[in-house]
Amino acid sequence: MKLLSIETTCDETSFALGAIKANEFSLLKSKVLSQTAIHQKYGGVVPNLSAREHLNNFIPVLDGLLKEAKTGLRDIDAFVVANGPGLIPALLIGVSIAKSLAYFYQKSLIPIHHLEGHIYANWLNKNGKLRKAIQFPVLALIVSGGHTQLVYLKNHLNYEIIGETLDDAAGEAFDKVAKMLELGYPGGPKVSQMAAKGKVGFYQFPVPMRRTPDLNFSFSGLKTSVLTALKKYKKPYPLKVKQDIAASFQEAVILSLIHKTEKAIKKYKPQSLLLAGGVSANSALRRRFEKTAAKYRVQAFIPLLQYCGDNAAMHLVAAYFKLRQNGLKKYQNNWKKVQADAELAINSLP
Ligand code: KG4
Ligand code: ZN
Repeated sequence: MKLLSIETTCDETSFALGAIKANEFSLLKSKVLSQTAIHQKYGGVVPNLSAREHLNNFIPVLDGLLKEAKTGLRDIDAFVVANGPGLIPALLIGVSIAKSLAYFYQKSLIPIHHLEGHIYANWLNKNGKLRKAIQFPVLALIVSGGHTQLVYLKNHLNYEIIGETLDDAAGEAFDKVAKMLELGYPGGPKVSQMAAKGKVGFYQFPVPMRRTPDLNFSFSGLKTSVLTALKKYKKPYPLKVKQDIAASFQEAVILSLIHKTEKAIKKYKPQSLLLAGGVSANSALRRRFEKTAAKYRVQAFIPLLQYCGDNAAMHLVAAYFKLRQNGLKKYQNNWKKVQADAELAINSLP
């Protein structure tokens, strides 16, 4: 059985092709076209612009994927789409493509919650097969541009949000601090590069939510602390100031993420610890996450770098486990039902 997956939740146009043979999944081909260069001059993603770019680019990306895989749309047995959460103009493009294809070819359509895709990115190994070592219960720390959550999975596809941000997401905080430091967009990688050369603790930023008993996060106060620290300097800021602020800010974010993850490990006693979302590309966070898991003797999993950001391949993995649980029939004629939903809840999809 062949599956074609479509991802347009934000600023990446991505398609991926997967196969299920003798109940085993393999990723056949994956393509991601990033719109970063387009949005850079606006300092962030412009939703309508991202929709226009998806519309302009989806056929070349899809066509390239099918040609390289030497396959055609007729050979696809089911279509997969991330129908939320995300930017509504962007989501509408991917969902329209998916519904049209499923209707035209009279095939099943499997909707995927974008964050379950990020979680399932952890199963993909470098050969496009599935890692077998992940054991339930799982504790996942999701750190993306739009979300920061601790999610507990007793079993496959069974999500319990046990902590989340009360304001900005971790990725959003990285992007905003990058803007303050005049580093441009996308901010996460730029702040992280600066941080690598800076002195951690040179600026004493408070670790957000350190003393709250819950498992929630908050990053907007930290952002204000950065702004206050910057007020002492005139623009353009000296390189050393940028490096030290980036390092101290990144450290406060990581300490906050790790502190709540440790709390959750003690309370929920997971077998496996998963990192997910765009910020999981951050090398300092990856190191600390692995160290934390080792401290509590939990197995840590981190997505391969190519699956940290938005991509259609990770949604294929979630679709594979859904098919195993529900069968293909459940998704027949689904083109009638699947809707783009910017605020989609994680447990709302079959
Ligand atoms: O998961 P993602 O690609 O998109 C969403 O679903 O939101 O996450 C994008 C976020 C952006 O905020 C970006 O700045 C951040 O991930 N990011 C990073 C790094 N690479 C990407 N943040 C910190 N360090 C990085 N190396
Ligand atoms: Zn994402």
